[in-house]
Amino acid sequence: MRTSIIYHKTGRFEVETGSTILEASKCLGLFHDCHCDGTGQCLSCVVWILGGEQNCSPVEKHEAQILAAHHLRPPIRLACTTKILGPIRLQILVREESEVTAMMSNPSQIMPPLPGTQLPLVLMKTTLHGFEVFAVNSLPHDSVRILHQFRSTLETLLREHGGQIIETHGASVLAVFGLEGEIRDAINSAVGCSRRLSVACKELKEYLTRHFEANVGLGIGLHVGLTTVGKIGSAPREQWVVLGETRQITEQLLKLTGAAKADILVSEPVFALIRDRFPIKRAFSARMPGKEQRSNVFEVQAQSTGFVMEMAA
Ligand code: FES
Repeated sequence: MRTSIIYHKTGRFEVETGSTILEASKCLGLFHDCHCDGTGQCLSCVVWILGGEQNCSPVEKHEAQILAAHHLRPPIRLACTTKILGPIRLQILVREESEVTAMMSNPSQIMPPLPGTQLPLVLMKTTLHGFEVFAVNSLPHDSVRILHQFRSTLETLLREHGGQIIETHGASVLAVFGLEGEIRDAINSAVGCSRRLSVACKELKEYLTRHFEANVGLGIGLHVGLTTVGKIGSAPREQWVVLGETRQITEQLLKLTGAAKADILVSEPVFALIRDRFPIKRAFSARMPGKEQRSNVFEVQAQSTGFVMEMAA
């Protein structure tokens, strides 16, 4: 029996059902690296399954071990051990020749992870709206002190909820949840963290209004989706980078918090997974990057009590 396989940017082909992806590539005369005779040792044949993951043979123990040892996980698969059971779409991931050679000469060496990959992740972008204006109009002592208190609180909450900071710029912070563990748990953690931050910032907002007549408000955008993620730079300044549509949508949600006067706005995919767990205050539709139709946006109600930010004079 035959089935179809689509190689990203190459084309669609018919192949024998039950053959491995590597066998299919060779049969079709496509270039597909293989440095270990298909014994699952060299990792030079890795592919990214873009569609039809359920039509691939299950990940067996050896493949799971070698992927995990090299910081990889499905939908990244070894082409030499993965059998095609139905239609699939994939991309061959090209590794540096030097990495493969180094690993083959010393099999105990860990090959560097792929520089970039796509993972289902929850992104949280937060800021203090109006902080820039406050910083311009206040003493350096006050602006740095307030920023420090906001960041310390945020960092504490992120630590407690398993979030990780990716980027910071003034009062704006991009954090990620789900680099490890189940995505459903990551969504609950991200929403829980956001609700506690909202409570903590209430105190801060009141303090700034009372003492500085400043109009500063919290904004948090939360979205979940396949995210391009990787590490750039070299030690000691190596850092995570997050790119793509998931990030753009998260940033758009954050922008909307200002106009909507909402602390926490989440996208529809987040809402679908939290609707039975967290109270939703309201919903409205808005334009999102990369979407033709307007998308639904949901405001999550803040927790009524919780983490309180200590406001030292
Ligand atoms: S060809 Fe070496 S791991 Fe697949």
